[in-house]
Amino acid sequence: MAQNEEVFKKIISHAKEYGFVFPSSEIYDGLSAVYDYGQNGVELKNNIKQYWWKAMVQYHENIVGLDAAIFMHPATWKASGHVDAFSDPLIDNKDSKKRYRADVLIEDQLAKWEDKIDKEVEKAAKRFGETFDKEQFINTNARVLEYREKIETASARFNKAMAGEDLADVKKLIEELEIVCPVSGSRNWTDVRQFNLMFSTQMGSVSEDSNTLYLRPETAQGIFVNYLNVQKTGRMKIPFGIAQIGKAFRNEIVARQFIFRMREFEQMEMQFFVRPGTEMEWFEYWKDQRIKWHHSLGIPASKYRWHKHEKLAHYANAAVDIEFEFPIGFKELEGIHSRTDFDLSSHQKFSGKKITYFDSELNENYVPFVIETSIGLDRTFLAILSHAYTEEKLEDGSERVVLRIPPVLAPVKCGVLPLIAKDGLPEKAREIMDSLKFDFMCQYEEKDSIGRRYRRHDAIGTPYCITIDHQTLEDNTVTIRDRDTMLQERIPMERISEMISAKIKAV
Ligand code: GAP
Repeated sequence: MAQNEEVFKKIISHAKEYGFVFPSSEIYDGLSAVYDYGQNGVELKNNIKQYWWKAMVQYHENIVGLDAAIFMHPATWKASGHVDAFSDPLIDNKDSKKRYRADVLIEDQLAKWEDKIDKEVEKAAKRFGETFDKEQFINTNARVLEYREKIETASARFNKAMAGEDLADVKKLIEELEIVCPVSGSRNWTDVRQFNLMFSTQMGSVSEDSNTLYLRPETAQGIFVNYLNVQKTGRMKIPFGIAQIGKAFRNEIVARQFIFRMREFEQMEMQFFVRPGTEMEWFEYWKDQRIKWHHSLGIPASKYRWHKHEKLAHYANAAVDIEFEFPIGFKELEGIHSRTDFDLSSHQKFSGKKITYFDSELNENYVPFVIETSIGLDRTFLAILSHAYTEEKLEDGSERVVLRIPPVLAPVKCGVLPLIAKDGLPEKAREIMDSLKFDFMCQYEEKDSIGRRYRRHDAIGTPYCITIDHQTLEDNTVTIRDRDTMLQERIPMERISEMISAKIKAV
């Protein structure tokens, strides 16, 4: 098993063991690609939401919030293009009866060749030792060049077939690459066909007059259909934004990788309405703002990278992703899209309602253009959790697992721990707990040795633990232990609150 895969497995089991993430309806053996957030998970999730909301809504005077319903009029999804174009190319193996995404089968094959290149490089590095020149080796080694050529040819052919909607050629490519079903091992494939990712349900009390509704696959459309309501009632002047956090649903076929790809997930999206022709300036502005937000969490910049979309979605004239280095590799965390006036114009056409803005400076009516920032809440959670997860060997030879979660996001800010559960220490600790709990999420704990309690708090990422001992009864001082350094300092009780506040501010 690759080392990163092993780490990923450990993170998943840690998330379960410490009440962050549980498989959905686990007592019935779970539901594929659906997860529940436990007592610590929900705190972390709420803190991420709040951190995003503050950065987007509270700190920008021209951005307001919205909470639109998940169910929307079915025409919404016709207008947005999701009914016709929100699909994945699927293929079934006739022997195993398993269904796959054709693009993923091909990507997996390309990844196998990439792995082979890495292995050649690794072997050569060992053979040549310090004199090894990786760049030169990659550009000249015959085997590496052969793999590279295969990757480029297959990838160009696949992109061309998809762009031309030539699904027969996608199947031919799968056959020519001799891709086998991982379950049956056979190459007995069906044709490739498009499969819409939206979940549907019925509205109405009797089936005859029921209407097919879709569970929204993105929160964005709730913003577009409320554009006029918010602009008018909020007297918003362009440029302005509408932000929303909420659930989205996609019938993902390749649903694996824990909370990275789920069927029910949450998005934090913001649509920024601008004057036509200024969209590229705002696109750059939001790229800059969003990457700064990520960096503000204190995670090294090297864990993020940009991915520019070469093939654009039907609504976009520019798009980039912010990718994060998860244990499963660099993958999309957030998308920033210049969506033109596609959505508002389309809703105008389908609804018959005029959706324009009167720009008094230009003395002109127009349909605003839109820059969208769209980040997955669950993926942000996974990014933070996987970066935070640290196994440490301590000086005394023991080991600890600590979650180095940015303090501002930590589920519990402070553990309140009487050294022993007698001699009046619990009462004193309760007094401290009562004075802190209105401002911070704190946890009172008196069970087990102090060492074990520290370890439990390390494992959920609590930045500070306060210990109340016999000296506290004499002089009202406590020890405060730092999660990361494990150093303890004796401070007056009145300073606890100020120290936690400072820690949270410092991120
Ligand atoms: N409104 C634009 C939009 O929905 P997207 O790239 O399809 O764009 C935006 O999704 C973000 O939502 C992604 O960057 C990702 O973080 C998150 N996301 C998308 N599908 C997801 C899934 N199946 N599970 C978890 N997060 C997902």
